[in-house]
Amino acid sequence: MTLAEVLAGATAYLAARGVESSRLDAERLLARGLGVTRLELYTQHDRPVTEAERDVVRELVRRRGAREPLAYVLGDWDFRHLTLKTDGRALVPRPETETVVERCLALLEGIDAPRVVDVGTGSGAIALSIAHERPDAEVVATDVSPDALALARENAAENGLDLVFVETDLLDGVGGPFQLVVSNPPYVLEAELDGLDDEVRTFEPRAALVDRGQTARLAEQARSVLDGWLVLEVHEHRAGEVRDLLLAAGYAAVSIGLDLAGRQRVVEAQWLQISNTP
Ligand SMILES: C[S@@+](CC[C@H](N)C(=O)[O-])C[C@H]1O[C@@H](n2cnc3c(N)ncnc32)[C@H](O)[C@@H]1O
Repeated sequence: MTLAEVLAGATAYLAARGVESSRLDAERLLARGLGVTRLELYTQHDRPVTEAERDVVRELVRRRGAREPLAYVLGDWDFRHLTLKTDGRALVPRPETETVVERCLALLEGIDAPRVVDVGTGSGAIALSIAHERPDAEVVATDVSPDALALARENAAENGLDLVFVETDLLDGVGGPFQLVVSNPPYVLEAELDGLDDEVRTFEPRAALVDRGQTARLAEQARSVLDGWLVLEVHEHRAGEVRDLLLAAGYAAVSIGLDLAGRQRVVEAQWLQISNTP
């Protein structure tokens, strides 16, 4: 079989299993399996694919056809300027989270050597990006999941970044002050789980998805370590609720930000020790 034939077969297989971006996914899996670029799939379209190569590709395509997220099948995923290892130990980093990092970087502008903590770091996406883009920052990353932390540590090592990782519940035992507390906490309500995409519900860790009151608890806890900004990624329909929660907790300068698709996905607020010391 030629490369073009294998690509056509893989695309049809994925489409028949309901994969929306079947052509693109087939290209990425084939390119990965054969160790070529996507462009080379076309410039070498008539090159024969050996049986051994087909076995490798078949396994990748089979996994994607079972609706495992593309990022898990590929085993890595781009997030801002980094390539992160991705597997079932942590949530796949999402594009809207890149907007969260952007807000963090904007708020840190002009602050020398800021101390930052990313709560619920998962793959490490937020913490590692901040460490990468603000090399003078001291970055701490927490997670309650030892699996997620192991993955985040691997990602730090792969990218040559130096962070402090802490296995804990939110900020328990983590000493401030921090100029920035950032988090993309789980924000799917138990009742909303059935409405989630199959790929998310079946493959991504439950502990990364389900809201067990982490946002509200973090808003309370962060005040004791914060001397600066709290930045939270939120469910697109609950930004107003989180804003009200932060106002009620006494935060100042509370505002809602939009992601690239114009959805209300980021809430930020300020807590300064000087304004809150009696
Ligand atoms: C929505 S995922 C976000 C992962 C990553 N920060 C990202 O943006 O891709 C939420 C993360 O919070 C962690 N988590 C859930 N409850 C937690 C808690 N009580 N304390 C610390 N981390 C928690 C989960 O293990 C998961 O890694």
